[in-house]
Amino acid sequence: GKDLLTLKDLSSDDIMSLLESAIELKQKHKNGEIVTSLKGKTLGLIFEKSSTRTRVSFEAGMMQLGGNALFLSSQDLQIGRGETIADTARVLSEFIDAIMIRTFEHSKIEELADYASIPVINGLTDDYHPCQALADLLTIYEHKKSFEGLKVAYVGDGNNVAHSLMIACAKMGIDISIGCPDGYEPKDFVTAYVNEIAATTGAKVTITKDPVEAVKNADAIYADVWTSMGQEEEAQQRLKIFAPYQVNEELAAYAKSDYLFLHCLPAHREEEVTASIIDGPNSVVFQQAGNRMHVQKALLQAILA
Ligand code: CP
Repeated sequence: GKDLLTLKDLSSDDIMSLLESAIELKQKHKNGEIVTSLKGKTLGLIFEKSSTRTRVSFEAGMMQLGGNALFLSSQDLQIGRGETIADTARVLSEFIDAIMIRTFEHSKIEELADYASIPVINGLTDDYHPCQALADLLTIYEHKKSFEGLKVAYVGDGNNVAHSLMIACAKMGIDISIGCPDGYEPKDFVTAYVNEIAATTGAKVTITKDPVEAVKNADAIYADVWTSMGQEEEAQQRLKIFAPYQVNEELAAYAKSDYLFLHCLPAHREEEVTASIIDGPNSVVFQQAGNRMHVQKALLQAILA
């Protein structure tokens, strides 16, 4: 029912109403207005990998809505010592109202959701990062006021962040162009789904090896890390392969002059993006990070209130 495992779980109308609700909650937060819609509710946060934004945005967001958040490192849970996901899901369902999990294989979150009687939210799996994509959409919407006629270019690794961004754009009718090296394309099952959705919304989906083609006339350029998140061993090889996909002044010059620069963070300056771009006038990366909290508050309210 109310899980968010991937953006496949949401219609474009669902997404639009989350964005509107996020904008309202953000305004209230800025005005110092207290909202207590989640009073008495508890969100458990299971992390099998480290996190700054996901953890703090969910914890702060829950508290701002009058609820509670429990940080559950998998190293401290019995999961880390072999208790099954299924049993963990059933036990946590006895205590709390929703679970957010950051894990590895996407099948793990599916298993958790199958056995939990409470909603499960994806805080990053190997295949998807839906909360990030909602914050990405919110950031684009705040600046461009509409999704009509937009083109978003993602350059780099066709990874979980790219997957969710592609689905988000296709659902909202935004043209999405992925510029990535051979062998680093988005997974076929994601591209197939995105093409299916795009056929109904009119969004144009392009996957190309050419970063210039990807970025040409884009309204937003998106970069993500090349070498973190467990890929440290192949780092040197990746740095070489991805070098032509660095977002720098030369590449960004092909985008529209009022392009937005987006990055899910953490960033590695002078790798996937130059400091001049990420710290420059077109960059909206910290607003984008902040929007994680606002859009997740809207999501939590929709799921739990
Ligand atoms: N963008 C993102 O998910 O950041 P964290 O890994 O810090 O949560």
